[in-house]
Amino acid sequence: MSRIAYVNGAYVPHAVAGVHVEDRGYQFGDGVYEVCEVRGGHMVDERRHMERLLRSLGELRIRLPMSLAALGVVLRQTIARNRVRDGLVYLQVTRGVARRDHYFPDPATPPSLVVTARAIDPAKGEAAAEQGIGVITVPDNRWERVDIKTVGLLPNVLAKEAAKQAGAREAWFVDAGGHVTEGGSTNAWIVTPEGRLVTRPAESGILRGITRTVMFEVAAELQLRIEERPFTVAEALGAREAFVTSATNFATPVVRIDGQAIGDGRPGPVARALRANYHRLAEIAR
Ligand code: PDD
Repeated sequence: MSRIAYVNGAYVPHAVAGVHVEDRGYQFGDGVYEVCEVRGGHMVDERRHMERLLRSLGELRIRLPMSLAALGVVLRQTIARNRVRDGLVYLQVTRGVARRDHYFPDPATPPSLVVTARAIDPAKGEAAAEQGIGVITVPDNRWERVDIKTVGLLPNVLAKEAAKQAGAREAWFVDAGGHVTEGGSTNAWIVTPEGRLVTRPAESGILRGITRTVMFEVAAELQLRIEERPFTVAEALGAREAFVTSATNFATPVVRIDGQAIGDGRPGPVARALRANYHRLAEIAR
């Protein structure tokens, strides 16, 4: 079956889907995006992802080119037309097409909206979670506004490629004070020797992950205590467990940091429990 993409008002074959060369997303990375898990054909945590989208757009003063209700229809259509049961739906809004000039274009310039969806074999994620993944640490060289989910992801791209070259799956950014901020495309967590969950506060320095937010509820249900505070690489290396969270990873155990084993070098019970209970508390929009 051929894939279909939504591009500025039309559903088109994925193979020929494109935006203009002077789209500001292409020229300047002047746009935002969201990634939502699709499970059983339905979006997971759509409400929170849409709230974050509106926040990102607001921070950059980009308009959403249609109502949220209409966007919901486009997302569902794109999922349905691609017959995605398990996978993800991706949406991107940019400041639109205009002659290349750094200043904002004429306010009448319509923002561009692109939506794609694709299936992902759940067995792949499960296998990664069973084995656990490796991460490397890299200096956090990103701008200050990483709270905005922009498509300007070059530091993340370089960090994740460095991880891959090193035989790891994810890169953890480390700030000037030696504290882990977050992963290239995930939030970072550890479990202390006392069994407390630790993750960095989301007021600044990281993207406030939707999965991260839901994990607070999962942890409360499992009667696990969370300390929202920065942690160093040294503390992570001495942790009982480590893991990452994102819409496509849920909670995935980290078993190696910079080549050193975490805990006994195998996925731990806390990360496993959070993963196992995540979808019970996430909102599945039908
Ligand atoms: N990444 N931090 C960063 C830098 C991210 O890019 C992401 C998401 C997260 C986790 O956010 P959430 O739990 O809402 O998915 C944290 C998406 C999945 C991506 O870029 O593919």
